[in-house]
Amino acid sequence: MKKWIEKIQNSINLEELEEIRVKIFGKKGILAQEFKKLKNLSNEEKPKVAKELNELKNRLNGLICTKKDELQKKALQEELIKENIDPSLYSPYNIKGALHPVQDTMDRIVEYFISMNFSIENGPLIEDDFHNFEALNLPKFHPARDMQDTFYFKDEMLLRTHTSPVQIRTMLNNEPPIRMISPGAVFRRDFDLTHTPMFHQVEGLLVDKKQRVSFANLKFILSDFLKYMFGDIDIRYRPSFFPFTEPSAEVDISCIFCKGKGCRVCSHTGWLEVLGCGMVDPNVFKAVGYKDVSGYAFGLGVERFAMLIHKIPDLRSLFEGDLRLLEQFR
Ligand code: PHE
Repeated sequence: MKKWIEKIQNSINLEELEEIRVKIFGKKGILAQEFKKLKNLSNEEKPKVAKELNELKNRLNGLICTKKDELQKKALQEELIKENIDPSLYSPYNIKGALHPVQDTMDRIVEYFISMNFSIENGPLIEDDFHNFEALNLPKFHPARDMQDTFYFKDEMLLRTHTSPVQIRTMLNNEPPIRMISPGAVFRRDFDLTHTPMFHQVEGLLVDKKQRVSFANLKFILSDFLKYMFGDIDIRYRPSFFPFTEPSAEVDISCIFCKGKGCRVCSHTGWLEVLGCGMVDPNVFKAVGYKDVSGYAFGLGVERFAMLIHKIPDLRSLFEGDLRLLEQFR
């Protein structure tokens, strides 16, 4: 047996050790042979020899395990030396990722409204006529449907043209009061300097008991939000029209490029339009079966915010994936 112990201890690599292990422990290995011989022994001798054999077996096994461990460590060490990797070496390819400016802007918008206790709601991108138009006080053949250049599928299904259908879904699934925003992609047949067929909006809706919600509440939250996004700016509310709000307004901020003096970006008006909003039209409440409530709603384009915040001149460049542009936001 001494011979085998020496063999184990002197083996120089894992293959050799494995060969020895098979010779000792294999089906026809020396241990198996020794155990076979037991049957030829007398009944007194048998247990004694068997015990010795078992002890030997355990000892050899232990030795092999220890040796295996040692050889594995040695093999790894040799491998490392052979591959010669210096993990501390400076790499010129150490490129960090960054949030896309649209995502980053979206995050900031959502962050504000979460801090004001608004919940986040989501809806499908493929909508039906009822949620995208009808329930929002846009009956069939209403001329205001032309404002939204819709992509249609068969069977009155369409790509949602705004996030307002999520207002409807939320009201149909919940009792008032409601205080929600809904960020997400929307689609319109439009493509130029300031329009892409897919862009992102954030919708807002607040509903509570009648006379609990006023236009002044709407003005407060939007003005506070715009100051959070753009810093020190002037804000004005301009009368406007949306079928789902009455009265409606568009919100302008003083041009952040020329500080209101007038430049190309603001078409020399000194103002930039950034939001649509208004008090929820009674017809919308009727469509979702809400009674004795009042509310306000607003909607904004995330890309427009991103362009203004980062001074990006062409909206389309946000979707071209050009690393030279995106790397600037690291
Ligand atoms: N849905 C409108 C749009 O896409 C924006 C809006 C939302 C206006 C809510 C008023 C209230 O243009």
